[in-house]
Parts: sequence; structure tokens; C-alpha cells
Amino acid sequence: MRIGILGTGTLATALATGWTRAGHDITIGGRSPERAEVAAKASGAHARPLPEVAADADVVLLSVRWEGVADILAAAGAPGGSLAGKPLIDPTNAVEHGVGVLRTEAGRAAAQHVAELAPGAHVVKALHLFPSTRWTAPESPPVTVAMCGDDRRALETVGSLVRDIGGVPAVVGGLDRARQLEEVAGFVIALAFAGVDPQSAIPAVPSPRGE
Ligand SMILES: NC(=O)c1ccc[n+]([C@@H]2O[C@H](COP(=O)([O-])OP(=O)(O)OC[C@H]3O[C@@H](n4cnc5c(N)ncnc54)[C@H](OP(=O)(O)O)[C@@H]3O)[C@@H](O)[C@H]2O)c1
Repeated sequence: MRIGILGTGTLATALATGWTRAGHDITIGGRSPERAEVAAKASGAHARPLPEVAADADVVLLSVRWEGVADILAAAGAPGGSLAGKPLIDPTNAVEHGVGVLRTEAGRAAAQHVAELAPGAHVVKALHLFPSTRWTAPESPPVTVAMCGDDRRALETVGSLVRDIGGVPAVVGGLDRARQLEEVAGFVIALAFAGVDPQSAIPAVPSPRGE
């Protein structure tokens, strides 16, 4: 699969590394061509200008800080429809670190803002809950990757990419559930800052399907 990555930081590089290892063709771009080259070299991807990253991809990952989301989508041509019809993975955390509070307006999800900024894209909220290092350690035990989105085929595509890096996809609903998934990130970060493993705070409830 041709995966385009918008952003050149820690998560972008880790996911590019994991998906390159799985045999995918990755292009990566950001506001700094130099940092795109560094990320590409570190991960086995190809650095490209942002409009080409968007145009040439089957699926796109949005991997920038929340404050850079609108700028990078604009630079990639998303408001003009460059991502229309494509799965757009949103792993961003619009969270005030240290207090775990969401920076988006009440009742609205970051992923819903992303969908407005990229008309026609099939936004899938996913991959926002685990540290980037998880995706470059394929020998680690599988983790459940909760995700949500409105387009069934986009969810299947992203689910398959999640499996490729050692995750088990779990679709929890449409994009109207994204806010809930984003609040979990605030919870996880707040617990980590409090000095405990967030996993220890989640009750072990058996699945009705026995999984
Ligand atoms: N790292 C993780 O473990 C992890 C895990 C889950 C989710 N996330 C989420 O993934 C996203 C990326 O995190 P990261 O850790 O990779 O961050 P990072 O290493 O700090 O990289 C941030 C990226 O955002 C870009 N950026 C920032 N402001 C921008 C702007 N105004 N316009 C265009 N680009 C801008 C940076 O570009 P420059 O290099 O040019 O500044 C860089 O490419 C965040 O939303 C984060 O919450 C991260």
C-alpha cells in the first residue's frame, strides 16, 4: 500500500519504520524538507513535498502536533479536496499535557475538526493511545487499537495497517465516538504523569465474545 505521512516527528518516523518493515511504500513530508529527509532516512521512507505526499497515497497519516493540523492539511491541499475518498488516519492528541484536558471545544472531537479541514476524506481516529516506540517493537505482545470512523472500507484498510505493526483493531463506532476515544488519551496521559501504569486502572471485564 502507498502510505503518505504528513509530519516528520517522532510518531511519523516510528510508524513509517513499522510500515516499511511490513512492506509498504511510504512517502513523508512536512513543513521542513530537511526534517522530512531525516525522517525518511531513519525509516526507509521517501521524502516528498506535501502536495505529492497527499496526491500519491492510498491512505494518509496525519502526524503533527494539534496546533499544526490546520497548517499541514492546507499545505497538502486537503481543503481543496486532495484527500477526498482516501482514508485519513488521525492519531493526534489535542490534549493539555500534565492535566489531560482536551483543547477542543466541548462536545467536539479533534477528528471531527480534521474531517472538516479535509473535505471528502474518510477520517479514522486511531493509533493515538500508545507511545510511538510500541510500533517499532513488533515482537511485543499485541495491543488493542481502539478506532472509530464512518467509512467501513477505510476502517478495514486502517485495521489491516494496524495488524501490520502488531496491533489488534477494535472498531468502537463512528466518528461521533471520537471525542470519547480522545478523552481516553487525556486519562492515560494524566495517569502516566501521576506515576502509575494506565493499564493498571482499567478493569478486567470479560468480552461477551470471550476475547
Ligand atoms: N510521539 C508519540 O508517542 C505519540 C503517540 C500517540 C499520538 N501522538 C500524537 O501524534 C502527533 C505527533 O506527535 P509527535 O510525538 O510525532 O510530535 P513531534 O515529534 O513533536 O513532531 C511534531 C510534528 O508536527 C509538526 N508541526 C508542529 N507544528 C506545526 C505547524 N504549525 N505546521 C506544520 N507542522 C507542524 C512538526 O514539524 P516541525 O518539525 O517542522 O516543527 C513535526 O513534524 C501529536 O498530535 C501527538 O499528540 C504522539
